[in-house]
Amino acid sequence: MQRILTIIGARPQFIKASVVSRAIQKTDGVEEILLHTGQHFDTNMSDIFFNQLGIPRPDIQLDIHGGGHGEMTGRMLAEIEQTLLEHMPDRVLVYGDTNSTLAGALAAAKQHIPVAHVEAGLRSFNMRMPEEINRILTDQISDLLFCPTTTSVRNLENEGFAAKPAKVIQVGDVMQDAALLFAEKAVAPVGDALPEKFILATLHRAENTDDPKRLANIVRALNHIHKSEAPVVLPLHPRTRKLIALQGLDLDVQLIDPIGYFEMVWLLDHCQLVLTDSGGVQKEAFFFGKACVTMRDQTEWVELVEVGANELVGADEHKIVQASAQNLGREVKDTNQLYGGGEASQRIVDELVKANS
Ligand code: UD1
Ligand code: UDP
Repeated sequence: MQRILTIIGARPQFIKASVVSRAIQKTDGVEEILLHTGQHFDTNMSDIFFNQLGIPRPDIQLDIHGGGHGEMTGRMLAEIEQTLLEHMPDRVLVYGDTNSTLAGALAAAKQHIPVAHVEAGLRSFNMRMPEEINRILTDQISDLLFCPTTTSVRNLENEGFAAKPAKVIQVGDVMQDAALLFAEKAVAPVGDALPEKFILATLHRAENTDDPKRLANIVRALNHIHKSEAPVVLPLHPRTRKLIALQGLDLDVQLIDPIGYFEMVWLLDHCQLVLTDSGGVQKEAFFFGKACVTMRDQTEWVELVEVGANELVGADEHKIVQASAQNLGREVKDTNQLYGGGEASQRIVDELVKANS
């Protein structure tokens, strides 16, 4: 029996791991040990996803959050190393590009435990983003690189992976698996009276929230859109809540607390437009047929821009307002199966089994 130790810690990782965990449970010869680093810890940033998506309770629950990047990653590294020494798994599985991803991959590689990386090869080419550093380093120390898109495979080829022993496999995107699987569970958020027509917005990336000028521009743009174009519904990430308060900004849109995935899927399905700086939400807009305006200077999901589903506007107030007005109500179609069509999780598990045989 192959024992895989999965390391997750942040909201999008719970959603990604939920579908892969299901595939592991259905497959013979492989079992999963689940480690939660504690990076996200509020009930509606963590527990809610375990409850809704049927993710097994973590076998190992760390309690590491907050502090600077070095402190958080370093504490995770030390504690994950101890866990690996105790459990001695055959392989470690990590997702995406958070501090939990890097700490997990590094702890495993130092113990000579092979690492599989889901969402390998994505690049923004902006080294000021913490996510870019995490994903580049994680790819370098992984031996199974599960790429979601053609572009992510090409990025790795350009970095010389063709000549390395690591295996690069285009499997598709696990977030599409999740969107397809859970779409039927969509449910309106309770306790919030929502307008019939609205824009769904999310905002939390450090490059926006931690730069006072960018944050102020975005807040002004959102306020303007909410007042003049269409109501903006925004489930507010705790990071953004803290930084808006710190900067003394007045975000005058319909703010709601972070919500579960089923509520999020409902909002994606019912909105007129998605306005975001999230990685995952850019794709989910596409899965639910909605145009997306992305408040970032680069995206890793370049194919969405190429097919005209996504417009990049950075943190420019005027561009955010203009692009939102232009894209409001516009529908988009996935004609090319850009993300694999919903079979990524099983492909990943099949490759994990193959790699161990
Ligand atoms: C992290 C990831 C980011 C990802 C995001 C998903 C890194 C470097 N960044 O960013 O790539 O897009 O998760 O949402 O790993 N907080 C709470 N309660 C929580 C979670 C966070 O109050 O449940 C607070 C933290 O205490 C901290 C702030 O939010 O003050 C930021 O949390 P952190 O995990 O450091 O980074 P994220 O912005 O969530
Ligand atoms: N999401 C959610 N509730 C929310 C906001 C986001 O379930 O209140 C989901 C969203 O649908 C997507 C994932 O969380 O599946 C994206 O996470 P986030 O935007 O925090 O991180 P990123 O993708 O930018 O790393």
